[in-house]
Amino acid sequence: MVRLNDELSSTTAYLHDLESTNQSQQNLSPFTKIKGRSPVLKDAINLANKVSKTDAPVLITGESGVGKELFAEGIHNAGKRSNHPFVAINCGAIPTALFESELFGYEQGAFTGAIKGGKKGKFDAAKGGTIFLDEIGEMPLELQVKLLRVLQEKHYYRVSGNEAIPTDVRIIAATNRDLEKMIDEGSFREDLYYRLNVISISIPPLRDRIEDIPELIQLFLKEFSLKYTMPIPRIDPEVMYTFLQHPWQGNIRQLRNMIERMIILASDNEVMKPHHLPKNFVKENNPPTLNIHFEEIKKRNGQGEDEIQYALQKTFGNKAAAAKLLGISRATLYNKLKKYDLKLD
Ligand SMILES: Nc1ncnc2c1ncn2[C@@H]1O[C@H](COP(=O)(O)OP(=O)(O)O)[C@@H](O)[C@H]1O
Ligand SMILES: [Mg+2]
Repeated sequence: MVRLNDELSSTTAYLHDLESTNQSQQNLSPFTKIKGRSPVLKDAINLANKVSKTDAPVLITGESGVGKELFAEGIHNAGKRSNHPFVAINCGAIPTALFESELFGYEQGAFTGAIKGGKKGKFDAAKGGTIFLDEIGEMPLELQVKLLRVLQEKHYYRVSGNEAIPTDVRIIAATNRDLEKMIDEGSFREDLYYRLNVISISIPPLRDRIEDIPELIQLFLKEFSLKYTMPIPRIDPEVMYTFLQHPWQGNIRQLRNMIERMIILASDNEVMKPHHLPKNFVKENNPPTLNIHFEEIKKRNGQGEDEIQYALQKTFGNKAAAAKLLGISRATLYNKLKKYDLKLD
C-alpha cells in the first residue's frame, strides 16, 4: 500500500509540473482547457487546432460527455472568429413550428404574438462567429432540408422578411449518433452529412483513454473543492483503480459529477475510500469492457510480454491496477515480470 501511495503521489507530482507548464501557456492555446495526456486525445487536439485556422465545417463525433462542446469552443476560440459569439443550438430541442423564427428571426408583425420590432434569430446572434449545431442527429428530416438549403445558398430570410441576409458564421456540428447508419436507414440526409462533415474529429470514450483519468480527477477535485470551500481530499489507491476500470458510460461528465458528489459528501481531511462511492457505481463497474479492448491488443501482439507492458503503461506502472486490467492475480503478474525480466521500478 505504501508503495502504491508513492506511485500515486509521483503521478500527482507529475500533474503539478504539467500544470505549471500549462499555466504559462494559458494565453497561447484555448485548447489547454482540454486536459489529458493520451495520444488519441492529443491527436484530436492537434486536428482541432489545425482546422481552427480555417472556416471549414467540422463534425465532432463521440459518446455523450466526451468533450464535444469543449472542443467546439476550443476551435472557435483558437480561430479568427474568436472575438465574435459562439452560439450553441440543441438541434433536438427546437420545435418544428419555431425552427425558422428561432434560427433566422422574424420581422415586425410576422405573426400574432410576435414581439414588436421583430426578433433576432441564432444566425443573427452568431454573426461573425460560430454556430454550434449540437445533437445534429436529433434534427427531424424536414428541418434538415431547411438547414441544408441555408448552408447551400449561404443566405437566409427572416420570417416575413424579404431581404436575403448573407450567413456569416462558421458551422461546427456534433453528434453521438452514427450518422452513416442513419443515412442508410433514411433518417439523416446524405447531402447534409457531406456538407457538415468536411473535417471530422472523433473523440474516443474515456474507457479507451484511461491514462487521462488521473489528470481529470485532479482538475475536478480542484474545481469543486474551490466551489465548496473544502480542502482537496486525498484519493485512496483502491478508488483510483476502481476509476481506472470503470466503463464510464457518461464519460467525463459522469466522472466530473462523481468527483463533485465525493467533495460534497466528504468530511474535512477525509481520505476517499471505496465505501464513499455510490453502491450502484461499484456494481456497474464492469472490467470486461477493458478486457475486451485488451483482447484486441492480445490478438495483435500475441505475446504475454507486450500485454504486460501495455497494462503497466496504461496504469502508470501501478502493478495492482495492471494485474486487475489483465484479469490475473498480483502474484501471477509478479511471476510474469520475473519470467520476462521486466524491471519497471
Ligand atoms: N479533456 C477534458 N478536460 C477537461 N474537462 C473536460 C474534458 N472533456 C470534457 N470535459 C468536461 O466534461 C463535461 C462534458 O463535456 P462536453 O463538452 O459537454 O461533452 P459532450 O458535448 O461530448 O457531451 C464538461 O463539463 C466539460 O468541460
Ligand atoms: Mg454536449
